[in-house]
Amino acid sequence: MSTQTNKVEELIELRAQARLGGGEKAIEKQHAQGKYTARERITMLLDEGSFEELDMFVQHRSHNFGMEKKQFLGDGVVTGYGTINGRLVYLFAQDFTVIGGSLSETMALKICKVMDLAMQMGAPVIGLNDSGGARIQEGVNALAGYAEIFQRNILASGVVPQISTILGPCAGGAVYSPALTDFTIMVQGASYMFLTGPKVVETVTHEVVTQEQLGGAEVHARKSGVSHFSVEKEEDAIDLVRKLLSFLPQNNMEETPVKPTSDPIDRLEDSLNEIIPDNANQAYDMYEVIGAIVDDGEFLEVHADYAKNIIVGFARFNGRSVGIVANQPKALAGVLDINASRKAARFVRFCDAFNVPLVTLVDVPGFLPGTGQEYGGVIVHGAKLLYAYGEATVPKVTVTLRKSYGGAHIVMSCKQLRGDMNYAWPTAEIAVMGGAGAVEVLYAKEAKESSDPAKVLAEKEAEYNKAFANPYNAAKYGYIDDVIEPRNTRFRIIRALQQLATKKQVNPAKKHDNIPL
Ligand code: HXC
Repeated sequence: MSTQTNKVEELIELRAQARLGGGEKAIEKQHAQGKYTARERITMLLDEGSFEELDMFVQHRSHNFGMEKKQFLGDGVVTGYGTINGRLVYLFAQDFTVIGGSLSETMALKICKVMDLAMQMGAPVIGLNDSGGARIQEGVNALAGYAEIFQRNILASGVVPQISTILGPCAGGAVYSPALTDFTIMVQGASYMFLTGPKVVETVTHEVVTQEQLGGAEVHARKSGVSHFSVEKEEDAIDLVRKLLSFLPQNNMEETPVKPTSDPIDRLEDSLNEIIPDNANQAYDMYEVIGAIVDDGEFLEVHADYAKNIIVGFARFNGRSVGIVANQPKALAGVLDINASRKAARFVRFCDAFNVPLVTLVDVPGFLPGTGQEYGGVIVHGAKLLYAYGEATVPKVTVTLRKSYGGAHIVMSCKQLRGDMNYAWPTAEIAVMGGAGAVEVLYAKEAKESSDPAKVLAEKEAEYNKAFANPYNAAKYGYIDDVIEPRNTRFRIIRALQQLATKKQVNPAKKHDNIPL
């Protein structure tokens, strides 16, 4: 055998060794826990045969605690690039079979390399996270490594989409990189995110909790809102990444991709002419409206389990992606509160950063009153959504279906927040407040002095509703561009978006804004 052949054989052997990660036993343990290995995950995620791996031979440089004897080719993370539906993506997949996927200085360098490439090429970064956090044996070098990654997450924010899938534990500093990215996907019963684990919690606060209770997928999907998606299986998380990317441009300089559709643009949806109940206090399901108007009824909801009083997610009109923000009358009557404001503001800002037009469907009775909200800072949190809509320069189409009252009317992409096309259904009620509340303020004294207060208030309320509970008052001032037939909503939105496709709007030059945080 020639020297060259020997060297090629050696390369092949080394590659095989690297592909084994932490070794067969560790792989078996990973599988026994119902988890895939880093490489298996990459194979599922990328287009077949498209993966190009980088830094397969990187090894850590630590000599503490006998670490020099614990060497694994690739050092606990698989990095590289490939394609998803033919479009370039960069990724890193932490390999839990290698020292628990813990983050070393060299692992951080590998991750930073793909992030730098993604920024230069203008392509999304996907993190497949499965890690015990900073590699304890590496001390400050591991911390520095995290900081290098965070810095890149920050600079990449708003430039290329960043998606984090959490496919195992994600402890300590490991949670902050996902928190800095655009979307976080967690797997039920398999992934955890917490700053400090149950043991530390018990020591410090004497609170006894399980990993699941502290930072499981359900907790972050429903309570904290830290994760945007909670899925049942790893396969679902991988599919979701592919689906999510199909709605997004590669970077902030690109337009959103177009997916051809056979759904007619002028499809009339007769059911929408009858969807609003006669009783203004009765709910209907906003999902029905969304499903009826978007291409093929396809809607990818974000934050589905968090702040259900507002719905956000991606859909398409005539093939082009949009971000939908809609009040949900079926949850808390669609009222705006702290969580709904935060949820929607973050989504609106994502869409604006990545040229995704916004379609807003309004049916909002106002902001939720009370000490709970005020003490929690609803003023500042509500201002986030106000700010997000006001600064957004992407095309903005608003349709008011029913209620649009007070501050909530302004916040939900009204004309003066540079809403481009503001439409209303004939059932719209655009006013400072609802009739019952208004007459209580205006006629309380008169009612009290009369022999039949209820009658006085009812009469005044009917008068008020006649004058204000309609869209024509707002239309009279041009605050509403047109009152449209509900069944024609899809067509009118598509026409508006077509018109707005070349919209150019620039905010004043500044270092950066100061959104209320
Ligand atoms: C070094 C680690 C490690 C770590 C796990 N391992 N986490 N090695 N540094 N952070 C090693 C284990 O020693 C073990 O090695 C192997 O990985 C598998 O771990 P197990 O514990 O056997 O796995 P499991 O039972 O599934 O438990 C997983 C786990 C647990 C819940 C993640 O390992 C754990 O609690 N790890 C520590 C989590 C943590 O507190 N991280 C915070 C670090 S501080 P062997 O050789 O036995 O196979 C931090 C601050 C950064 O991140 C701040 C930046 C801003």
